[in-house]
Amino acid sequence: MLAKAIEALFDFIGERRYAHMMISNEAVTHDGYEVPPEIFGRFFPAIRQAVRDLLNEAWTQAMDTAWDALIAEIDGFIARAFPGRTAAGAPIGVVPTLA
Ligand code: HEM
Repeated sequence: MLAKAIEALFDFIGERRYAHMMISNEAVTHDGYEVPPEIFGRFFPAIRQAVRDLLNEAWTQAMDTAWDALIAEIDGFIARAFPGRTAAGAPIGVVPTLA
């Protein structure tokens, strides 16, 4: 699962052949596993934190900014898989539209 998530990240920042759909689909599948979208979405910040810890002082502001943008965009795809609600039933705010 970790390997699939990392592979998806590389596709998402690269050719984006499948990762945007996979992440949305897995968000729905995981809701069925009782892993709600806001928990599912925490997986990517956890990967970011692990990378940051590994790089330690080699971590740069540019990396920080790039990961921020990446995670925000992924969150949009996760939110879009749940139109009109979070797992708690509250409305989701601004959801980006598909390019
Ligand atoms: C904290 C977040 C997450 C939790 C707690 C979680 C938990 C789980 C659980 C319980 C299963 C079912 C295992 C089984 O019964 O065989 C599963 C399967 C799987 N997970 Fe996750 N997961 C998380 C995030 C992710 C993310 C971010 C991805 C990738 C985008 C991912 C990809 C997969 C894949 C590919 C499977 C195999 C089955 C399927 O396609 O649904 N998971 N996960």
